[in-house]
Amino acid sequence: MSINDIFNVSGKVAFVTGAGSGLGREMAVAMAENGASVACFDINAEGLAITADLIGKDALLIEGDVADEAAVDAAIAACVERFGSLDVVFANAGIGDPEPSLLHEYSTENWNKVIGVNLNGVFNTNRAALRQMVAQGSGKIINTASMWGLAGSSSIFPLPAYNATKGAVVNLTRELGLQYATQNIQVNAICPGFFKTALGPVDDPEFMAVTTNFTPMGRVAEASEIKGTALYLASSASDFVTGTTLVIDGGCMAK
Ligand SMILES: NC(=O)c1ccc[n+]([C@@H]2O[C@H](COP(=O)([O-])OP(=O)(O)OC[C@H]3O[C@@H](n4cnc5c(N)ncnc54)[C@H](O)[C@@H]3O)[C@@H](O)[C@H]2O)c1
Repeated sequence: MSINDIFNVSGKVAFVTGAGSGLGREMAVAMAENGASVACFDINAEGLAITADLIGKDALLIEGDVADEAAVDAAIAACVERFGSLDVVFANAGIGDPEPSLLHEYSTENWNKVIGVNLNGVFNTNRAALRQMVAQGSGKIINTASMWGLAGSSSIFPLPAYNATKGAVVNLTRELGLQYATQNIQVNAICPGFFKTALGPVDDPEFMAVTTNFTPMGRVAEASEIKGTALYLASSASDFVTGTTLVIDGGCMAK
């Protein structure tokens, strides 16, 4: 296979959650730019419309909540109905801790909210995807975890629920990599460091200073810098890669 073919996703069908902003938007655009058909799922319809404009060709837009299993099941079904298969799924939608704080001051309501989106949402998306992928005998799932799935963040931000969910996504990914290793289905996770998206207050100079200083490369990534990692894990280039995490963090986790 030539190097162009190895990274080629043309003719593939990709489904992206959280595609209405930030990293998910870049994943969706990366797939479309490389020839895939793309279904974009997000709770934010306005964000989806912007992503569709960037894709500039036929994209399936589905407004819904990843925490709602029926909505996710229906969205995967709609994607298969529209495009005929399901080759690549990015379980990417996520939220931060609504009120970052130490655990003894953390509300049950916020805990359940973060678990609902970041962990149950990934469960809902992976399960719905795997039902289709097992039936068709192939597929690639890419879960967006975080570098805070590999280490605690409290030296700079107290994010107990976020970190708990991201650690769980990392280990769920390992488990699923093993469960489906012989079924031509790869399951991997991306662990981003600091990227400029709507997830953090990137217009706040103090936030930017803290995140920049924490990052060995001395800068925060542009959202579009996720595209190469997304294409690698979505394409044949990663056919022998499963159950692993790809850290893209400017060196933070190497410290
Ligand atoms: N930006 C970073 O620095 C960074 C670092 C590590 C991990 N991540 C992870 O990357 C993923 C994408 O985040 P981002 O940085 O692009 O943030 P973002 O806020 O720009 O995008 C998140 C998207 O998810 C959507 N979303 C939120 N809740 C949803 C729900 N219940 N159902 C469906 N869609 C929902 C939002 O509407 C939004 O479009 C998240 O899982 C996040 O935890 C981001």
